[in-house]
Amino acid sequence: MKLVLASQNKKKLVEMNDILSSLGIEVCSQADAGVDLEPEETGTTFEENSLIKAKAVMEASGLPAIADDSGLCVDALRGAPGVYSARYGGEDLSDEGRYRLLLENMQGQMPRTAQFVSVITCCFPNGDVLTARGECPGTIAFAPMGEGGFGYDPVFFVPPLKKTFAQLSPEEKNAVSHRGKALKLFQEKLEVYIRSK
Ligand code: IMP
Repeated sequence: MKLVLASQNKKKLVEMNDILSSLGIEVCSQADAGVDLEPEETGTTFEENSLIKAKAVMEASGLPAIADDSGLCVDALRGAPGVYSARYGGEDLSDEGRYRLLLENMQGQMPRTAQFVSVITCCFPNGDVLTARGECPGTIAFAPMGEGGFGYDPVFFVPPLKKTFAQLSPEEKNAVSHRGKALKLFQEKLEVYIRSK
């Protein structure tokens, strides 16, 4: 089965293929499917935005489309940046600019606990929808550490592993991450769905 990923994020595409290839599922990019689209994320929850993206790309491509809406929810900041993680501090900031802004906003704040959240939605042309949510608890580091990953990875510290996401190999990150957990649950739901057809 081939799914179109409703995202321009190449690292998300790699993470999805790493996890779903074992099911014989190929996830292709919007460009591969000839879809040039960036739907506006007007929702206020990960669930709403994930559905908006998957539905728009399914309708434009005529193929099943999968979307991940994800973000970092920091307890001391009352859940911010949350669904606005990609736009935290404005559209012009780089990934590094965003995590540096987060570190600034966390100065003197306690606790430093946070959760990464991912909601995967898959929309099929017949109207069927599958959804799966994954969360990964952690803390906000005091300074960036590590070179891997993307986004807020250098400042997201996973206490049981004593490392930030950016210090983990892709396999280590997938084993504990919000997206890894959501994709695993999605994989289980998809297997049941395929069997029911
Ligand atoms: P989305 O593409 O609208 O889902 O935006 C998600 C944003 O949340 C990304 O641009 C990152 O800033 C952040 N994010 C989501 N997942 C991760 C991750 O695994 N590592 C680091 N940052 C992430």
